Amino acid sequence: MAHALNRHLALVGFMGAGKSTLGPQVAERLGRPFIDLDRDLEQDLGTTIPEFFEQHGEKEFRLQEEGHAIAALRLPDPAVIVLGGGAVQTQSIRNELRDRAFTVLLEVDPDTAWQRSAGGDRPLARDESEFHALYERRRELYDAVADAHVYDVDDMLLAAAGVHVHTGALESLGSLLLGDGDVALVTDPHVGGIYGAAAQVALGSRLASVHEVPQGEAAKTAAVAERLWSELRLDRDGLIVALGGGSTTDLTGFVAATYLRGVSWIAVPTTVVGQVDAAIGGKTAIDLPQGKNLAGAFHWPARAVVDPAVLATLPEDERREGMAEVVKTGLLAGEPLWELPLPELVRRCAAFKAAICLRDPHEQGDRVILNLGHTFAHALEAAADYEAVTHGQAVGLGLLAALRLSGRATDVVGEVLAPERVRVDRERAWAALRRDKKARGGELRLVLLGDNGPVVEVRPEHEVRSALDELIAE
Ligand SMILES: NC(=O)c1ccc[n+]([C@@H]2O[C@H](COP(=O)([O-])OP(=O)(O)OC[C@H]3O[C@@H](n4cnc5c(N)ncnc54)[C@H](O)[C@@H]3O)[C@@H](O)[C@H]2O)c1
Ligand SMILES: [Zn+2]
Repeated sequence: MAHALNRHLALVGFMGAGKSTLGPQVAERLGRPFIDLDRDLEQDLGTTIPEFFEQHGEKEFRLQEEGHAIAALRLPDPAVIVLGGGAVQTQSIRNELRDRAFTVLLEVDPDTAWQRSAGGDRPLARDESEFHALYERRRELYDAVADAHVYDVDDMLLAAAGVHVHTGALESLGSLLLGDGDVALVTDPHVGGIYGAAAQVALGSRLASVHEVPQGEAAKTAAVAERLWSELRLDRDGLIVALGGGSTTDLTGFVAATYLRGVSWIAVPTTVVGQVDAAIGGKTAIDLPQGKNLAGAFHWPARAVVDPAVLATLPEDERREGMAEVVKTGLLAGEPLWELPLPELVRRCAAFKAAICLRDPHEQGDRVILNLGHTFAHALEAAADYEAVTHGQAVGLGLLAALRLSGRATDVVGEVLAPERVRVDRERAWAALRRDKKARGGELRLVLLGDNGPVVEVRPEHEVRSALDELIAE
């Protein structure tokens, strides 16, 4: 399995790994029910697990555990399910995990596990050398069931979304492919010139064709999509790999959603925008003459393979575009993520977006918070005919407005993004903002920052209008 969209996220690992502590945090972030099988089992048995072990032995315990685990894994609504450390010993539980869950192994080294588990009442943590031997025996079973190996909450959220973030990921692309069908690679001439050869080597004998698309937004047209539809020679088990910025991944994802009524695709984002935003969450689109992103589909990439090392060749102005989304993400998360070194910055921001999108894959609720600053940004971009201002600059300004309306200090936006007011027609910008799909009656709904995180609030028109006016140069 490649991700946990529409599936249970199962957490396995040795005792002392921290499953029961981190599990509820992950469930909360994903907005899913949390099931701790050992705890439920104790409730049902009316006794503690150590006591049950004492009275009935391990064999009887494993039988009880099997019934509970299988019942939980067969629940229809995707949940976060923590399994006891020994549950993977049971073959039928392993089968059920394979069929119904995306399984992550929470890693812990044996010494840490022993320190956390010894001295308590855990029946299998009484003798240190036996404990280490058990660790070694289970290791193989854990590896066999694990779809991903994780160390913390962000790792789990990324794994759940099918997002792989690590330096050198581009070179390991071959090991991240799915199925055994042909692979088509889509890239633009510039990115292809720098990273195309490495990608082709990594794809190896699976690679059947390479398709070049224009650089930047010019790729997102019906004409380019049509050309790809006619060039592709894939079966339903084929796979399309998109290597490039958000424009390349948006177009390719859309083509993958529609070609043969949908084939799998892998995003390999090469810009900051792509790595923290565009390649995550399954929104794909092309532009129409009437406006941006007007034809599209939700089509979750089987994987997003994120290699922060490729950002080394990104021009400074493209990097700044991405920092606007990074500042947005940090403000939403309530942490100065923009201060982190690049690989960690990408990992944390990508994890934040992954969690919100898994919570709300079709943008019917919580995902709206990702629009922080964007209502203003879109109005400014429209008033500038998408020419005098870039999306990143407009988002920087939009964040200023959102912070002001939230009664917050705006220093960070000034320091990190230094957005300059734009010269656009005020009436056009205001008209564009009111047309924004979030407008209701005489009121405007905006994503703002409350005391406990993002909120959607209705603000009177005159307040919104003056916040917009402040972003526009005389
Ligand atoms: N689907 C979503 O959820 C989502 C989210 C945000 C943005 N987007 C879309 O993403 C698009 C913007 O994407 P973008 O900001 O990544 O830019 P882009 O894809 O439009 O352009 C990137 C430019 O940088 C070059 N480039 C890319 N990677 C490079 C590298 N590593 N080294 C050197 N040059 C490199 C490319 O050749 C291209 O010229 C917009 O169309 C936007 O609508 C989509
Ligand atoms: Zn944006």
